[in-house]
Amino acid sequence: MAEHGSDLNPALVRDSWDNAARAYAEGQAAGRDRYRYAFFGPAHVRKCGDVRGLRLMDIGCGSGYFAREMARAGANVTGTDVAPQMIEQARRQELESPLGIDFRVVDAADLAESFRARSFDIVTSCCALQDMPDIPRVLRAVREILTPGGRFVPSVVHPCADTPFREWERDATGRKRWLCIDRYFDREVIENRWLGWPYEFTTFARHLTLEDWFTMILDARFSIRALSEPRPTEQTLREYPDLEDAARVPYYLIFDLIS
Ligand SMILES: C[S@@+](CC[C@H](N)C(=O)[O-])C[C@H]1O[C@@H](n2cnc3c(N)ncnc32)[C@H](O)[C@@H]1O
Repeated sequence: MAEHGSDLNPALVRDSWDNAARAYAEGQAAGRDRYRYAFFGPAHVRKCGDVRGLRLMDIGCGSGYFAREMARAGANVTGTDVAPQMIEQARRQELESPLGIDFRVVDAADLAESFRARSFDIVTSCCALQDMPDIPRVLRAVREILTPGGRFVPSVVHPCADTPFREWERDATGRKRWLCIDRYFDREVIENRWLGWPYEFTTFARHLTLEDWFTMILDARFSIRALSEPRPTEQTLREYPDLEDAARVPYYLIFDLIS
């Protein structure tokens, strides 16, 4: 990971995800994204509860993984993402296996200009907020499009484990001994290199502290109903032993917010 100062450039974010789109969609389809599919995705789905019949918007939907989960759970889903190529991938999958999802290219910061106020019962976002350059504006926009009392349920990378310096120390056999983290208070742009996907790609996200997240959420006048730190179940670990590191340190955080 390398850092690029504290400003996340919107064009860089969009273009890097556009460039990633095919590898991301093909890698997910081939089962490359086990952390999302086998553990924190299902935990996020459970946190959303009964969504049957709800008007649901998934922001930063990428190639549509979580939007499809929500549609299968019975919601009427709109998926939005800033990267046109990601939406292209999502629409392709929708054509192949239709679930009735409306996928659109929209910057989450501009939701309030693109959708009617109070037109969604619930908004979700699967591990995308930390990639968005103007999170306070996104939070305000989400609040605008939600019905009063509507929920916003986003997952993000855990700010305590996803720091500007982060490295697993390994023993002689390669086994992970402990996670070394540092520079928690440096609000840096982090460069994420995605290795082992159909092609290598790089994306950018901003590291924020837990206090920053709470402050942004409360400033946008959401109340916090619950907070989860998902970890793999025993059964998941039996099936996917390589997820063992996620049972030792918190990799993700799920907020359950009320507007
Ligand atoms: C890690 S991917 C997650 C994709 C999807 N939610 C999933 O679970 O597979 C992050 C996504 O956030 C999108 N994104 C970043 N900034 C955005 C913004 N300002 N508005 C909407 N989407 C954005 C990226 O284009 C990318 O598709």
